[in-house]
Parts: sequence; C-alpha cells; structure tokens
Amino acid sequence: MKKTVIYYGSTTGTCEEIAGRIASALGVSDVKSAADFGPDAAGYDVLVLGTSTWGDGDVQDDWYGELDTLKNLDLGGKTVALFGCGDAEGYPDTFCGGMRALYDAAVAAGATVLEGPSTDGYSFEGSDAVIDGRFVGVALDEVNEPEKTDDRLAALIQAVKGL
Ligand SMILES: Cc1cc2nc3c(=O)[nH]c(=O)nc-3n(C[C@H](O)[C@H](O)[C@H](O)COP(=O)(O)O)c2cc1C
Repeated sequence: MKKTVIYYGSTTGTCEEIAGRIASALGVSDVKSAADFGPDAAGYDVLVLGTSTWGDGDVQDDWYGELDTLKNLDLGGKTVALFGCGDAEGYPDTFCGGMRALYDAAVAAGATVLEGPSTDGYSFEGSDAVIDGRFVGVALDEVNEPEKTDDRLAALIQAVKGL
C-alpha cells in the first residue's frame, strides 16, 4: 500500500475514534490531529482526511487554520479520501457539510479525491457535501446510525488498499 496518513478534526472524540478504526483497518500508524496539519502532509501518497461538522455545516475547528495550508500544497498525483461525522436527525439541512471545505481545498491542491457514496440509504434534507447525488467523502452518523459505520467505511478502506 502507498504511504498513507490520516488527519482528523474532532471536538468530542467521535471523528478521532473513527480515524483510529480506519488506521487499524489499513495498518496505518500515522494518525494525526488536524491541528498538526502542515506542509509535511505533501510527503504522503495518500491522505485520508476526516472532519466532524459543527455550527451550521462547518468544518471542525482544528481544520480552520489549516484549510489554506491544504489548499496551497501541491498534491498533484496524490490521492485524498474524505470521511465526515455528523448528525442527520439533529442537523438534517447541513448533514456532514463540513466535508465540503476539505473537498474544495483538496481539489484546489490538485489532488485526486476518491468518490464518496451515493446518498441512497441516508435520511437527511440537504448538505453542501453532496455533489450530483454523491457525498464528496464517506458520511457517517455515529449519533443515530452507528451500526452502519463499518459498512459505510468499507468502500473507502477497500479503495485505499487498492491504490
Ligand atoms: C452545536 C453543534 C452543531 C452541530 N452541527 C452539525 C451540522 O451542521 N451538521 C451535522 O451533520 N452535524 C452537526 N453536529 C453533530 C456533530 O458533528 C456530531 O455530534 C459528531 O459526531 C461530532 O464529532 P466529533 O466528536 O468528532 O467532533 C453538531 C453538533 C453540535 C453539538
């Protein structure tokens, strides 16, 4: 497998815990907080980036200062996979919307972003993280549907393993 790092933005630990589960499944040891994101991220072939969603569809706080850093990296030829934690019942109009800021920054950096899942099987009203009927990364709802998380992560794990 290619040289892979996982960065997560997490306020109450949910996204951090998911990052750990992805790391175990991939056998990746570089798992870092978004607060520690920096230019060294460009030294990896694959970047798995996660954020929970806060405010009104916003990226988690630790990513705020780092979005410009991400945007300005040269990630041409690199792959980015995204995952997000949200609450579709509590925030149905902005479900996992924070992933969109990561997607836009990764695209601006020239990365190839792995396709996220279709919205089929999710129950929510709206999200900036949806483009043409697909999430920009794996949308997770540990608040209401934790039993679906492993299945939802499987495609990401399989795709990264296959790179
Ligand atoms: C004040 C507040 C605002 C939130 N806003 C959203 C939101 O806009 N969209 C969403 O999907 N989830 C929203 N959530 C739910 C969190 O994203 C969810 O609880 C998540 O699992 C937290 O992950 P973390 O512990 O990694 O930060 C919000 C939660 C709180 C308390």
